[in-house]
Amino acid sequence: MCGIIGVIGKEDPVHALLDGLKNLEYRGYDSAGLALKNYYQIQVIKSVGKIANLEEKVSDTSLIPAFLGIAHTRWATHGSPSEVNAHPHTSGKVTLVHNGIIENAKEIKERLVQEGISFVSDTDTEVAAALINFYYEKDAIQAIDLALNDIVGSYAFLILFADSNQLYALRKDSPLVVGVSDHGNFVASDIVAIASWTRQYFLLEEGEIAVLSDSRVDVFRDGKTVEKNILTLDQNDGDSSKGQYEHYMLKEIMEEPMVIEKTLNSILDHLDTFSDLTQYEQIHIVACGSAMYAGMIGKSLLEEYASFPVICEVASEYRYKNILYDRKTLVILISQSGETADTIAAMRKAKDASVDTLAIVNVKTSTLARESDRQIFIEAGPEVAVATTKAYILQVFVLALLSYQTAVSKGMVHDSSVLVEARKLPQMISEVLNRRDEYIKIAEKIYSQENIFFIGRKIDYAISLEGSLKLKEVSYIHSEAYQAGELKHGTISLIHEGMPLIAILTQEDILKKTLANLEEAKSRGAMTIVVSNQSIPFYDMEILVPKVNAFLQPILVVPCLQLLAYEVAKMRGCDIDKPRNLAKSVTVE
Ligand code: AGP
Repeated sequence: MCGIIGVIGKEDPVHALLDGLKNLEYRGYDSAGLALKNYYQIQVIKSVGKIANLEEKVSDTSLIPAFLGIAHTRWATHGSPSEVNAHPHTSGKVTLVHNGIIENAKEIKERLVQEGISFVSDTDTEVAAALINFYYEKDAIQAIDLALNDIVGSYAFLILFADSNQLYALRKDSPLVVGVSDHGNFVASDIVAIASWTRQYFLLEEGEIAVLSDSRVDVFRDGKTVEKNILTLDQNDGDSSKGQYEHYMLKEIMEEPMVIEKTLNSILDHLDTFSDLTQYEQIHIVACGSAMYAGMIGKSLLEEYASFPVICEVASEYRYKNILYDRKTLVILISQSGETADTIAAMRKAKDASVDTLAIVNVKTSTLARESDRQIFIEAGPEVAVATTKAYILQVFVLALLSYQTAVSKGMVHDSSVLVEARKLPQMISEVLNRRDEYIKIAEKIYSQENIFFIGRKIDYAISLEGSLKLKEVSYIHSEAYQAGELKHGTISLIHEGMPLIAILTQEDILKKTLANLEEAKSRGAMTIVVSNQSIPFYDMEILVPKVNAFLQPILVVPCLQLLAYEVAKMRGCDIDKPRNLAKSVTVE
């Protein structure tokens, strides 16, 4: 999703703007631009492609002396990736950048065209600029309010007015963080964009307008001043450096032992609060993408070991379905960013039905963290690579502990070895991660393939979904995960000589069933790779992981699949941290 940053009061806004955009690259984009302002002029510079292209253009341009600026990385929604569609957009006295979607842009544009206003781009953002300018005479906030009355959709706007030396910031659905300091004030989509300039910040709420000057920041709601509580960024948050690693994805996989330990320590001292799930009669787990696949593991464990009926649904479906709630329903929302539009909408749907919501979330300042009734924070730290790895593992870990505690509270599990083994997880994951040569050997055998299938049953199927998603999103190989028993019902027609089939086999009670499915594929020429907690040597290749209790077993399997996906993508020369078309946080529906 788009990244935006604004700076005021710095002697050199260009450096801060470009530095901030680089820290927002993880959000995914296809073009970038910035606007500089002094008392008399506004200068706009835009480019297609990487931020390096914008940097080159800036260095080749004679820049106006400026003390104020806004910048933007665009992930195209309305209008193709092009320089003319890149932000900032200007209409009359208004120049702005935008993260979000204006759903009624077409109707507004038609109305403005009839008023004689012309447009140069295909974007909804230019429509917003034209609408605010249409209402603007001398009062900026009044013009903004009038325009917001017409706009339907999501937005984070940073707005400059030609005859004002202040920066205006406002949002709905898309997040904004305001950074304050004695050497300038800042506003951005994500704290990582400004953490190197200030660690003092506050979150802008929906309905508020922040007016940033070089020496102060005022916040208004319905014309009244709002006092904001200034927060201080934790020491290690905002640290999004790659360190000695070639890619953020590899760094974040290698951090998994550390973040498991950190999360375990942060949870163990109040593990008993987990068991209050027993007050509910049904649980809905709602998320998107990898977070959804983590939720499926939670569903498997809660149903298998705590006899809890669980509905697990992708948020984009859940938010529009007729859900039959009762007062004893808990809706668990899982999200790394806490800004995924569909997951936030699902949470709001549950809250509108007066149903309890629990967020399992990484970003403590996110919308999901702030609006849900209760939260369990995973301690992943900043996750920059678009493909989630350490955050996913922690989501699974929290769900495993939640399921375990619920099963213990219901008297259905008495095995205290789970917590003993949980403490050994960091060491066991380290051992799994230190076998990269094994994954490289397998990657060498499969990286040139066009299609790769994963299969599994029950919780192994949920694991195979994540293994398949990780592989396809970073390597661009077409990959699908299937319930092992489903192969015969159509998919097996796709098996051809030499096609890799990766089977996840961690459950003794159904091992033979899945092996039978593997045999069916092998007899039709598939290259068979087994990932298991017991040696199964009859296949082309195998990855053996330590055997632990069922609650924690997925946490030792998935890191192998993450590293395998990483090595394959590297051999294919892919843009591993920023795969094409993907964004780290899908803040639009
Ligand atoms: C995971 O590798 C993907 N990048 C994507 O599926 C992601 O998990 C999904 O968009 C949900 O994001 P969230 O956890 O921030 O809500």
